[in-house]
Amino acid sequence: MIKQDKIVEVRDRASIVEIISDVLTLKKTGRNYMGLCPFHTEKTPSFTVNEEKGIFHCFGCRAGGSVFQFLMQYDHLTFPEAVERVAKRYGIVIERAERGGGSEKAGERESLYHINERAAANYQRWLLDHSEGKRALDYLKSRGVDLNTARNFMLGYAPQSGSGLVDLMKKEKMTSQDGLRLGLIGQRGPGQFYEKFFARLMFPIINPAGKIVGFGGRVLDQGLPKYLNSSETPLFRKGSTLYGLYQAKEGIRKADRVVVVEGYLDVIALYQCGITYAVATLGTALTVDHVRVLSRYTKNITALFDGDDAGRSAAARSFEIFIEAGLFGQAAFLPNGEDPDTFIRSRGKAALEAILEQATPLADYYFSWLEQRYGKTLDGKSQTAGEISRVLAKVNNPFEVDLLVRRAVDTLGVREELLRRPAAARGGNPAARNPPAAVPPRATDGRDDFTERSLIGLMLRYSSVVKEVAEQRETREWMGPKWRAVVDLILAEWHKERIVDIFRIAQNSPPEAASELAALGLEGEALSETEAGQMAADCLSHLRRKYLRELERNLRIAIRAAEEQKDEKAKRERMLEWQDVVRKERQLERRRLESKTNIR
Ligand code: UTP
Ligand code: MN
Repeated sequence: MIKQDKIVEVRDRASIVEIISDVLTLKKTGRNYMGLCPFHTEKTPSFTVNEEKGIFHCFGCRAGGSVFQFLMQYDHLTFPEAVERVAKRYGIVIERAERGGGSEKAGERESLYHINERAAANYQRWLLDHSEGKRALDYLKSRGVDLNTARNFMLGYAPQSGSGLVDLMKKEKMTSQDGLRLGLIGQRGPGQFYEKFFARLMFPIINPAGKIVGFGGRVLDQGLPKYLNSSETPLFRKGSTLYGLYQAKEGIRKADRVVVVEGYLDVIALYQCGITYAVATLGTALTVDHVRVLSRYTKNITALFDGDDAGRSAAARSFEIFIEAGLFGQAAFLPNGEDPDTFIRSRGKAALEAILEQATPLADYYFSWLEQRYGKTLDGKSQTAGEISRVLAKVNNPFEVDLLVRRAVDTLGVREELLRRPAAARGGNPAARNPPAAVPPRATDGRDDFTERSLIGLMLRYSSVVKEVAEQRETREWMGPKWRAVVDLILAEWHKERIVDIFRIAQNSPPEAASELAALGLEGEALSETEAGQMAADCLSHLRRKYLRELERNLRIAIRAAEEQKDEKAKRERMLEWQDVVRKERQLERRRLESKTNIR
């Protein structure tokens, strides 16, 4: 963590226009600078930079934020990396001590990276320059990989009797402890080390920032295990690392799409044939973390599966992973018995592109798979409903929940109440059978959050609105979690500083909100304080109405569930709550009509 003061110093010194001009052509128009957005394809500029406020925003794709967020998105840096990059450009030194608590850890990571770096360079020399490497080069040739591609992926060779890594480490004073942790060396006795990888083709695993986090090594014959991977370390977690992402970054950005495959050599073969937007998991199934990592680059993720039964059920199961990460993925299938590597080498790029073109949304796939699996009998439908509500529990976005429920009702003929029932009332585990309660409304967090966004925009621009919201403390309850977090930040900032600094708020907001905040602070016409107050009041009553409406609906469902469970006590309680909500709704409605007639 870099200290807040330092971040502010770097931000104040930096010119966002200058930094962005390093990579884009910007033209001054009025108070802003405009250019073609690097984050989506466009012909007329909608990418706006405001020097004075230190923010950028694209009115086309809604990307936006501070200079640091620009670099994070453009170069896929972490926040501290972005701050350091800017600091360096303006000659500001960030001392180790100013990096705060993490410096010890950072040093440790650096030395692990360094060992991997040296090891990779060494393996690469063995492949390209030594006579023993010829074996591995021949193997690569037999698999259709050319030299250029081998260099691109930094492929190497670990020779039969050691690459000299142990001596190299000793000579360069790298600690053997680190080598052991990385899984590159093993220990026989005191001071006796040996190399773990030998007689293998080496695939360095490179993170998006270009650093080597680990290795995979393949035998050149039928030996086992076919692939050996280096150990998991703080640098390398298989469950969130994707092979080839570093090389594919550019291709993904250009295609606005990524294809996920299974093997190292699949990625490499696709790349060489011109499909430069493929990555692979590392011998594990796709995880939510993998999807989250990829979603920073594109929302269009296609998983490429084998055409056999295993591939098809893997596809259906991966739906849950995507939905938990907040995306609807796609699935494409290869003909039976092929993997991407063999397929593209025998049939060519166009044939693979055709398969990708035919990718199906995973949701479709999932629903037809459920139907096949459980059938349309009453019993089957109830199992289907159980399965779907288990998956729905993982979906954060109520908009998506609605979409999926509607799908399930329409295509599978499942009863809506079965899906909407609160988790506790769904049956199954009797221990979990608490009296049905109403689920608190899930205030919108998706596309439908126009009101939240308007209100926040007003808060960012008019202090009178912040005051108003600070007084109505319930307001935050009416919003989805993303915007609720932002409202909390604005209020905290207001209480502490009496001003609202968009930059600082964006800095601390959830990433999905951060990019929009800049836009909200820039957008919108100039209003008088009274007009702003009027607009804010409208937003507030709209939010409250929406909240009550949903609460009322959830209570009705809870009442029905209590009836089904013959739980009279719960039913009575929910009825009372329901009446109370209905009363509040009526009140609100009356007040709204009154204020309307007053204006006229
Ligand atoms: P596959 O066995 O499907 O192999 O493993 P592949 O990628 O087609 O390999 P080639 O074409 O024979 O060289 C898919 C992935 O599973 C992991 C590796 O990441 C591999 O790329 N794996 C496989 C292991 O980690 N260990 C193994 O022993 C085998
Ligand atoms: Mn293969």
